[in-house]
Amino acid sequence: MSVICKTALRHPPINRIFFPMSKEALLQKISDRKATVGVIGLGYVGLPLVLLFSKRGFSVVGIDVDARKIEQLRLGNSYIEHISPSEITTLNETGNFSAGTNPNLVGDCDAVLLCVPTPLTRNREPDMTYIERTAQAIGPFIRRGQLISLESTTYPGTTAEVLVPILERESGLVANREFFVAYSPEREDPNNQNYTTELIPKVVGADTADALELATELYASVVRRVVPVSSAATAEATKLVENIFRCVNIAMVNELKMVFQRMGIDIWEVIEAAKTKPFGFMPFYPGPGLGGHCIPIDPFYLTWKAREFDMPTKFIELAGEINSAMPYYVVNRTMEALNDQGKALKGSRLLLVGLAYKKDVDDLRESPTLKLIELFESRGAVADYHDSHIAEMKETREHPNLLGRKSVPIEKAGEYDAVIISTNHSDIDYAALGNRARLIVDTRNAMSGVQDITSFLCKA
Ligand SMILES: NC(=O)c1ccc[n+]([C@@H]2O[C@H](COP(=O)([O-])OP(=O)(O)OC[C@H]3O[C@@H](n4cnc5c(N)ncnc54)[C@H](O)[C@@H]3O)[C@@H](O)[C@H]2O)c1
Repeated sequence: MSVICKTALRHPPINRIFFPMSKEALLQKISDRKATVGVIGLGYVGLPLVLLFSKRGFSVVGIDVDARKIEQLRLGNSYIEHISPSEITTLNETGNFSAGTNPNLVGDCDAVLLCVPTPLTRNREPDMTYIERTAQAIGPFIRRGQLISLESTTYPGTTAEVLVPILERESGLVANREFFVAYSPEREDPNNQNYTTELIPKVVGADTADALELATELYASVVRRVVPVSSAATAEATKLVENIFRCVNIAMVNELKMVFQRMGIDIWEVIEAAKTKPFGFMPFYPGPGLGGHCIPIDPFYLTWKAREFDMPTKFIELAGEINSAMPYYVVNRTMEALNDQGKALKGSRLLLVGLAYKKDVDDLRESPTLKLIELFESRGAVADYHDSHIAEMKETREHPNLLGRKSVPIEKAGEYDAVIISTNHSDIDYAALGNRARLIVDTRNAMSGVQDITSFLCKA
């Protein structure tokens, strides 16, 4: 078995004095593929990075506090739907991969990539605890000459103001003199077959030329293109701008959808026509609300930081307001559609098709479907779900009461008063659904192009 589950010290604490390493030494190790790369946080971002560095010939060490993930990897299993078990088996067969829960494994690494979560707190402020705890845990094991690169999405200033002080305090070493620090935002788009990790250009920022050079070299050895920028804060800001851009544009089309619906104009048809303009227009699509671990959350990292500079972020606030109103809009449209059939929402049985936040993934974090279920049920409806990617609801911070609910077979759609398409997964036979359901409320335009359905169809 090539994966070693290391939960105890593999060897006595490293005497860091005996492992001095200059920038040149690490550059050489990177260029020779002799560097060992540690990845902390083996989730949607971290695991693809492990696979990529391993595929490019590096020794890789994976670290996660979740012992179940380590065990799954050890067994050759994948816990992320779009990563196949055969990729984990191949990883294990390299003989150059090990994984464990103990932060002391960092001592074995030349470069360490931090891919831990950055959610919002209940008060919608940046939750830095994962980054802080990781820094505290690995700090004592950092040694001279190592490169530490933060990949978690966060506000400008996090690397310099949060990460570096903890690492310095815990290690007793001086950042960017004795060890190197960089920030490189992750742009992973889970299950995007066109843009895999290696094809997505990687922005890298650091606060010294040496750290930037090292991080650039490291990432250049695994991705097609690296985009160096002048500071860690610039790289942090770059990632936020990308996600704010999406958040604001999605809010705009969501608002336009509601306006055009009143006017009897189909927003989807409008977007299809508008996107034929070969310049100056980029299509964004409306939906039942924002979902996922990034777009609903990351913009508010900037809002929070901007307050320190007495600056409002009105676009972000407005976009947040519109996007979070969308589930309420869908509920109203469903009520209207049921009303047209002489039914009340209260007492109706509803099937929500698609629990994941976007099509063809198994990730339900921040999914608007969760909010829809809550809203429908608080109005007296029964709200079940179908999602072939999520057989049973996992634990969510915001909706703990939904834990354990199970996906209903799609064949039962005809037993419900209405089917609400909240995620347009590709494995659904929408024509069959259209002939089975009594009423369809389509928030994704999934029924477009489906001919001769017998259901009542309401676009929402
Ligand atoms: N998922 C995406 O599509 C995506 C895309 C771009 C950026 N990001 C950003 O990347 C970061 C990671 O996101 P993710 O989706 O991979 O999260 P995830 O929840 O899938 O994975 C995070 C992993 O970190 C582990 N972890 C938490 N605390 C730890 C600690 N102290 N030490 C070791 N492991 C720890 C968790 O157990 C989990 O396995 C976030 O900042 C996110 O915003 C995510």
